[in-house]
Amino acid sequence: MSAAFQPRGAGFIAAAVLSAAVGVGVVLVGMASPSGPNADVPVADGPVASEEYGRRLVARTAELLGQDQADPALRYIDSRLNCASCHLSAGAEPGALTLLLTDEHYPRFSGRAGGMTDIEDRINECMQRSMNGRPLPMDSVEMRAMASYLRTLGAQYQAMGESARTAAAPAALVPPDRAADLEHGRAVFDARCSTCHGADGLGLLATGDRGKGYLFPPLWGPDSYNNGAGMHRVLTAARFVKARMPLGDPTLTDDEAFDVAAFINAQPRPQMANLEEDYPDKRAKPVDNPYGPYADDFPAEQHKFGPFRPIEEYYAAQRAR
Ligand code: HEC
Ligand code: HEC
Repeated sequence: MSAAFQPRGAGFIAAAVLSAAVGVGVVLVGMASPSGPNADVPVADGPVASEEYGRRLVARTAELLGQDQADPALRYIDSRLNCASCHLSAGAEPGALTLLLTDEHYPRFSGRAGGMTDIEDRINECMQRSMNGRPLPMDSVEMRAMASYLRTLGAQYQAMGESARTAAAPAALVPPDRAADLEHGRAVFDARCSTCHGADGLGLLATGDRGKGYLFPPLWGPDSYNNGAGMHRVLTAARFVKARMPLGDPTLTDDEAFDVAAFINAQPRPQMANLEEDYPDKRAKPVDNPYGPYADDFPAEQHKFGPFRPIEEYYAAQRAR
C-alpha cells in the first residue's frame, strides 16, 4: 500500500455516492456559467473554446455524442458511457487511466493497429471500442476539440507539483497465478459493486432521460463497452478496479479485483466486428486478449480468465530464442 493511500471507512461510500451526484450537478451548473446558455455550441477556431468543448465531450459523451443527441450527424456512439466513466475527472486525475500523460505518450507504435498512431488515432480506438461507436473524422470540430483538450492536460501535468502528480491509490495489482474464480467474482460484485452499478450491473441513469447518460455506468449490457475494448481484458480491468473501485473506497484485495474483473467480463456486451484483424502480428497480443486468433496453443478460455503466467512465460521464452 503506498504512503499516499488512506483506507477509508464504510461511511465514505455514501460520501462517494454523494460526491458523484454532486459532480454531475457541477457539470450542469458549468453549462449555465459565464459563457452563457450557448456554451455548448462548438466553436472551431479559438483554442480556449475548442479545449473547453473537448473537456465537455470527454465528461458528457453520452449526452453530446450519443443516440439521443438532437443532431443526427453527431450520433457517434452506441454506448451510453462517458469517456470520463473510465478516465476519471475527465482524465485530469493522476493514476489509473489518467490522460495527463497522453500528450507525452504519442506518437507511438500500436501493436493492435500494427503501425504508428497519434492521439487522434487513440481517441478513435476508444470511440469504436470503449464507447462502441464509430470514429470521429480527423478534421471534425469534435476530434480537434478532444485532441486539443488532451494536449492541454499534458501542459497541465507539466505545471503540476510532484505531490499533485501522485495518485492516492492502493498498491498496483499483482495478478494471482491461477484462473479467475467467477463465482467468487459474483460474490465480490454483489457485496462491493451492486449498490452503485445495480444488482443487474446495468447501471443507474443520471435522470429519467436516457439521453443524459448514467450516474453509475453499466458494467455490461447494451449501453456498456464492447468486447474489443481494453476494459474487456481481465488484467486491464482488474488493474483499474483495484486502483479505483469501489469509487472512493478502493480497498479490494488482488484476488477480489481479479475475480470481479473476470465476472464482469464474462457477462453479455456488444460485439465488435472484424476483431480478427487486430494485431497484424499475433505475437504482439497481450496475454489476456480475450479474442483470437492467437500465435500460441493455449486455450481461448485461458486467454480470457487465466492463469496468465504460463502464457507470459511462453512468450518470454520465444523472445529469448
Ligand atoms: C470502458 C472504459 C473506457 C472508456 C469509456 C474510454 N476509455 Fe480510453 N482507455 C481505456 C483503456 C483501458 C485504455 C488503455 C490504457 C492502457 O493502455 O493501459 C484507454 C486509453 C486511452 C487513451 C491513451 C492514453 C495514453 O496515455 O496512452 C486515450 C487518449 C483515451 N483512452 C481516450 C479516450 C476517449 C477520448 C474516450 C471517449 C471518447 C475514452 N478514452 C473512453 C478505457 C476507456
Ligand atoms: C460508490 C459507488 C460505486 C461503487 C460501490 C462502485 N463503483 Fe464503479 N464506478 C462508479 C462511478 C461513479 C463510475 C464512473 C466514474 C465517473 O463517472 O466519474 C464507475 C466506473 C466503473 C467502471 C468503468 C466504467 C464502466 O461502466 O465500465 C468499472 C469497470 C467499474 N466502475 C467497476 C466497479 C467494480 C468492479 C466495483 C465493485 C468492486 C465498483 N465499480 C464499485 C461508482 C461506483
